[in-house]
Amino acid sequence: MGFRTLDDMELSGKVVLTRVDINVPVENGRVTDTTRIDRIVPTVRDLRAAGARVVLLAHFGRPKGKVVPEMSLKQVVPSLSDALGVEVGFADGNYGQAVSGMEDGDVLLFENVRFNPGEESDDEGFARRLAGLGDVYCNDAFSAAHRAHATTHALARMLPACAGRSMEAELKALEAALGSPRPPVAAVVGGAKVSSKLDLLANLVTKVQHLIIGGGMANTFLAAQGVDVQKSLCEHDLLDTARDIAARAEQAGCTILLPRDVVVAQEFRANPETRTVKAEEVPEGWMILDAGPDSVMHIRTVLDGCATLVWNGPLGAFEMEPFDRATTAAAQHAAKLTRDGALVSVAGGGDTVAALNHAGVAEDFTYISTAGGAFLEWMEGKELPGVAALSA
Ligand code: 3PG
Ligand code: MG
Repeated sequence: MGFRTLDDMELSGKVVLTRVDINVPVENGRVTDTTRIDRIVPTVRDLRAAGARVVLLAHFGRPKGKVVPEMSLKQVVPSLSDALGVEVGFADGNYGQAVSGMEDGDVLLFENVRFNPGEESDDEGFARRLAGLGDVYCNDAFSAAHRAHATTHALARMLPACAGRSMEAELKALEAALGSPRPPVAAVVGGAKVSSKLDLLANLVTKVQHLIIGGGMANTFLAAQGVDVQKSLCEHDLLDTARDIAARAEQAGCTILLPRDVVVAQEFRANPETRTVKAEEVPEGWMILDAGPDSVMHIRTVLDGCATLVWNGPLGAFEMEPFDRATTAAAQHAAKLTRDGALVSVAGGGDTVAALNHAGVAEDFTYISTAGGAFLEWMEGKELPGVAALSA
């Protein structure tokens, strides 16, 4: 892949402007999930070991070019220092002075780059002022790479640029999953709506041999085949679209797997009365909330015959018991195949990480991306500006 890594750069004594994604969930001033912070540890460790002065550039929330005190990055400094094992400095002004006070191995976090309107507008002037503070640019924020912003895009062209360790790992995993994967390839796509994943489905049918559709969007595909899904979540205005995707899949030699049996309830709440029925036999007034055991069996058989799996979205309403069962069972089977060395499994996007954590398999997948939108855009086959800028 056409980009440089930390191994290709002169780093000793250099100020390395390092774009990271530490847009982590915070409740009452405390970071509740440090996954994204943990992912940048290898990059910062290697930079420090090479004698670099590490300036971290990051966004937090969507302050829209204004100073919004609740979105200050200052609140993540304690978690960051813990994870990195070094006292992280913080600058919210006088940036030049703060940088000139750094010594080799120091780590300094700048205030939320989105407080400046130049960030989201990919402003050359803003990027140039930042570039003037550093010697090298390193991007370790794959999950922000779908944004053409000053610190993910313009800045990359102004200094010698490279990918950080997490960006490197991410791109390698994605390449193995859809770039040049070992066939046969299966994709699991779940989640509520077809409408949010049209481009993704259209791209996948040309890339994978088996498309396993679950979640609310499966209902739309079932309805498109004439199934009465009753009260289930379903985009009735997209039946033609679903039929079109099915036709494209057939043309491309991609089989689409829809649930054969489903778990239904009369209302969406935890532990209601449920029944497991054939997909075409949803009782009047009931709704589909998960795939059933036959469907899971079918998915397991398909995965047994595949060498690569890319997974986005849950198969059912996994956040509510017992509708997490299909997702958990299928994920555990994928995890087992991965442990056995039979499957390369890559997952990411939105609820996926939460679903796989819930299934207890996050450690066993080949790679789990912390990216939401960037992972989806990549699955759609789009070029990500932050990645493209690194290879330029
Ligand atoms: C994310 O949380 O998805 C990334 O940090 C990107 O944030 P954004 O969607 O606000 O650009
Ligand atoms: Mg997002």
